[in-house]
Amino acid sequence: MLCQYKNELKEMIEEVKGFTNQGKVADYIPALADANSSTLAVAIFNGNDTCFSAGQSNERFTLQSISKVLTLALALMDHGGELVFSKVGMEPTGDPFNSIIKLESHAPSKPLNPMINAGALAVSHLIKGASTEEKLERLLNFVRRLSGNDSITYNSEVAKSEFETADLNRSLVYFMKQHGVITGNVEDLLDFYTKQCAIEVDCHDLAKIGYALATDGAAMNQEEEIMNPYIARIVKTFMVTCGMYNASGEFAIKVGIPAKSGVSGGIVGAVPNGMGIGIYGPALDEKGNSVAGMKLLEAISARYRLSIF
Ligand code: DON
Repeated sequence: MLCQYKNELKEMIEEVKGFTNQGKVADYIPALADANSSTLAVAIFNGNDTCFSAGQSNERFTLQSISKVLTLALALMDHGGELVFSKVGMEPTGDPFNSIIKLESHAPSKPLNPMINAGALAVSHLIKGASTEEKLERLLNFVRRLSGNDSITYNSEVAKSEFETADLNRSLVYFMKQHGVITGNVEDLLDFYTKQCAIEVDCHDLAKIGYALATDGAAMNQEEEIMNPYIARIVKTFMVTCGMYNASGEFAIKVGIPAKSGVSGGIVGAVPNGMGIGIYGPALDEKGNSVAGMKLLEAISARYRLSIF
């Protein structure tokens, strides 16, 4: 049985691998530009000991925007929904992930949702901790518990590379500071945000993070609750409505799995009632989503009938 799943995943990778040629590796963060654009890997975790996988599933990559779902969960645990949603909205934008336009055109001037960069920066600003180190350690511990991997940490080279080139994100933070959405030191927030984005995982870790969300916050042993089910529900709803940015509608129709992408090429999927999916394929489309990764999720969803709709 185990071999059957592995073989099926391999087959599906073969089917869609050609799509890696249609994408481009992100290079606006210089340290991401070296990724191999032909990579395509997947791991699936369903709560048993084995993580089914195919492709280069042990290759490590940074979470980038996938971290946004984790900081949102932590901020909700730190403060509750009332405070968090006084700083960030609940609506999709239809704009690219790094757009500034709705911050100005939408009143009151708060980011429309926590999955776009502006919203994620506003959420990261809320994470409790006396210093960037303390905040980061709290976030890392949360990710370690979700994935069951105590060795997870961040890639300092990727964090530095983004910090040095993140002027668009800086401008979002300055704009929000001027409008009272955030307070405090802009560089400190950028420091934390770029480190959170640089947290490094492989497909197996990501599948287990997806599983924790899929089981409404239960740890892998099912005995411990890492996240309140209500918070897991909020996070998964944002994954459906905004997780793939301005491709979320098409993705919901074609795949139908709550998912979140990152510009490193990762995608985490959380199938209700107990299946987590971790994908890595660094060749991206123009919206910043893994081209072949999305095709692979479409094939997996169709074969195992996983759409929630
Ligand atoms: O803030 C950024 O631009 C990156 N650290 C993360 C963006 C990202 O992953 C968008 N996702 N597809």
